[in-house]
Amino acid sequence: MTELKNDRFLRALMRQPVDRTPVWMMRQAGRYLPEYRATRAKAGDFLSLCKNTPLACEVTLQPLERFPLDAAILFSDILTIPDALGLGLYFETGEGPKFRNTVRSAADVAALPKINAEVDLDYVMNAVSTIRGALNGSVPLIGFSGSPWTLATYMIEGGSSKDFREAKKLMYGQPEVMHQLLDHLADSVIDYLNGQIRAGAQAVQIFDTWGGVLSSWAYQEFSLNYMKKIVAGLIRENDGRRVPVILFTKNGGQWLESIAESGADAVGLDWTTDIGKARARIGDQVALQGNMDPAMLYAPPERIRQEVADILSRYGTGPGHIFNLGHGITPDVDPEHAGAFIRAVTELSPEYHLQD
Ligand code: CP3
Repeated sequence: MTELKNDRFLRALMRQPVDRTPVWMMRQAGRYLPEYRATRAKAGDFLSLCKNTPLACEVTLQPLERFPLDAAILFSDILTIPDALGLGLYFETGEGPKFRNTVRSAADVAALPKINAEVDLDYVMNAVSTIRGALNGSVPLIGFSGSPWTLATYMIEGGSSKDFREAKKLMYGQPEVMHQLLDHLADSVIDYLNGQIRAGAQAVQIFDTWGGVLSSWAYQEFSLNYMKKIVAGLIRENDGRRVPVILFTKNGGQWLESIAESGADAVGLDWTTDIGKARARIGDQVALQGNMDPAMLYAPPERIRQEVADILSRYGTGPGHIFNLGHGITPDVDPEHAGAFIRAVTELSPEYHLQD
């Protein structure tokens, strides 16, 4: 394998010293980039883009051509697993994801097939290995999956939801059915992420976008428990290097201590938690990734730079911080502002990594 030229992202995930704070953005390949919109038009639609290996590779690399990012993230979606489970994913323009079929009963759960990710999601594995080749060791490649709870919400609701009514009905009314579904999804995610790791993903992130809508006990029982199972089932070393795992629960700040004990190497923070206080709470247990409000990218570049300075100083000196947004970059952000954000991290962070 080609040697990795820039490994500060992987080093920071393991809380090893770095020359400056590494930075990448959730949803860094996406609609805010005109070149992304052009490539998507060539593919036809978003799902066809995910399934087209050369074009998925092209859009993965687009943000790296513009900005000095320290990691690439596979271009795909978390909903590929439910699609492979036979739910029939589709996107309608202007609306979120939708499924032709939903899963709402014990019979629906029992009928779910067992997937073999390397076969049923071969297009994702092909994208990973093609992107790894194209990166040629410039920066590491992140693979990803949704958490079982987050995937379950889409599968039960049939798409996005405001109040998660159907998912919560099942969770409270027939908890044993919900547990069967989550367990099935946890096994699918393990298979899927291990497939991505074998194909060349050098770190993986689990997106628990909707864990934060649960009560504390329900978060532990229905979301975190299954993410723990996944972490325990993942390949943690490949090609002689650790494959770090990042666990991101949006709105999970109040459960930081238990997330830090999940076995993951790093915890993703949204912007509602002060990163300095988060560091004080978890000590040197895990690395922290985050956590600028993505809406700050609407502000003038000088304001963005000040916010980066503030977050760096709240985290303080030493290793273990990966700079990111607290959630995905939004489609109407000016790419120049994203550039100002990344430049500010590269310019302002070295002073936090001076070694004596
Ligand atoms: O970060 C990256 O650049 C990698 C690509 C990526 C996408 N989706 C591409 C995408 C990643 C990591 C995801 C994860 C994802 N997908 C999540 C978890 C992350 C999060 O945001 O919390 C979720 C909940 C989904 C499900 C999903 N996919 C939704 C709700 C939508 C519609 C959102 C919207 O803004 O319309 C998608 C579509 C999607 N996934 C797009 C992209 C670039 C936009 C599709 C388009 O090009 O029209």
